[in-house]
Amino acid sequence: MTDKIIVITGGLGFIGKHLIREVVLTNPTKIYVIDDLSNSSENDFEEFKEHPVELIIHDVSTKLPDLNTSIDYIFHLAALVSVPESFEHPLRTHQVNETGFINVLEFCKVYNVKKLIYASSCAVYGSSPNVPLAESERVVPESPYGLTKLNNEYYARFFHQAYGLESIGLRFFNVFGPGQKPISAYAGVISIFMDRAKKDLELTIYGNGEQFRDFIYVEDIARALIAASESQVKMGVYNVGTGKPTSLNDLFQTIAHIAAYKKAPIYAAPRLGDVEKSCADVSRIENDMNYSPTYSLEEGLLELYKSIKN
Ligand code: UD1
Repeated sequence: MTDKIIVITGGLGFIGKHLIREVVLTNPTKIYVIDDLSNSSENDFEEFKEHPVELIIHDVSTKLPDLNTSIDYIFHLAALVSVPESFEHPLRTHQVNETGFINVLEFCKVYNVKKLIYASSCAVYGSSPNVPLAESERVVPESPYGLTKLNNEYYARFFHQAYGLESIGLRFFNVFGPGQKPISAYAGVISIFMDRAKKDLELTIYGNGEQFRDFIYVEDIARALIAASESQVKMGVYNVGTGKPTSLNDLFQTIAHIAAYKKAPIYAAPRLGDVEKSCADVSRIENDMNYSPTYSLEEGLLELYKSIKN
């Protein structure tokens, strides 16, 4: 990344801020952060002010602003990320996630961007029972959100065929870590459990708790984004997970141990549309990019706990 000019869309979001911190360490010439502040505020930008980072407040569902400079890499993270919200607001999800993606592709064409790295999701698989899920698995999204991410992948492939645009889509599994907001109807289970355990409030497990997920720490996600930009791969999609399944019951036990939480969980009916099993086959990214995550679940949870204690 040294000497490079970089654009990060959705840069003030949960993953985006971790990515900026990681990219800043590589000595880039300039980072342009494009964010509409729908999920953040200008305060989130404070920590980057002494670095070569510029904030452009802009909604990606409209044409991207002119930057009058050459650009090396774009990391496209701006999106509506909630599955339930995408059922409630399919049109807005389409505007941000699909029209927004095409705006980014058009921008890449105009600026001759060397490579686009964008956030896809394990939601493209739907509820396939064939875990661990390899990238060759059938893709049958079961939400408007998953559908928009899959269409991003198709569009990226088309722009590679038609215009030679290099791009890598990363299918993130369940991302967690500091900065993920717990107070939201659409928050991730780890941020909810940690927050409530710290406040000694009751925790609810939907279903029998034997459903499992592949939880990956957010700094490992930031490293995967950088590995993708630096790799020789010109076009493709890659799972980003740990390859290790964790049941909700085990997750509960680990968090209870870390937070010295003594209450028993409350079991409630399964959530509508909940996937039973989700875990990544991570061999493709290991082979092609020599990438593997560094944090175990326990290490990531400890980091998260430390951050909320402070
Ligand atoms: C996650 C992602 C979503 C992605 C999808 C792909 C988050 C917030 N969402 O959804 O963007 O597209 O994977 O499949 O990361 N649970 C409880 N108690 C709670 C909250 C949740 O038991 O208080 C359970 C849920 O029922 C579910 C599991 O925890 O079985 C994980 O839920 P959640 O963190 O919301 O993520 P996913 O539904 O897997």
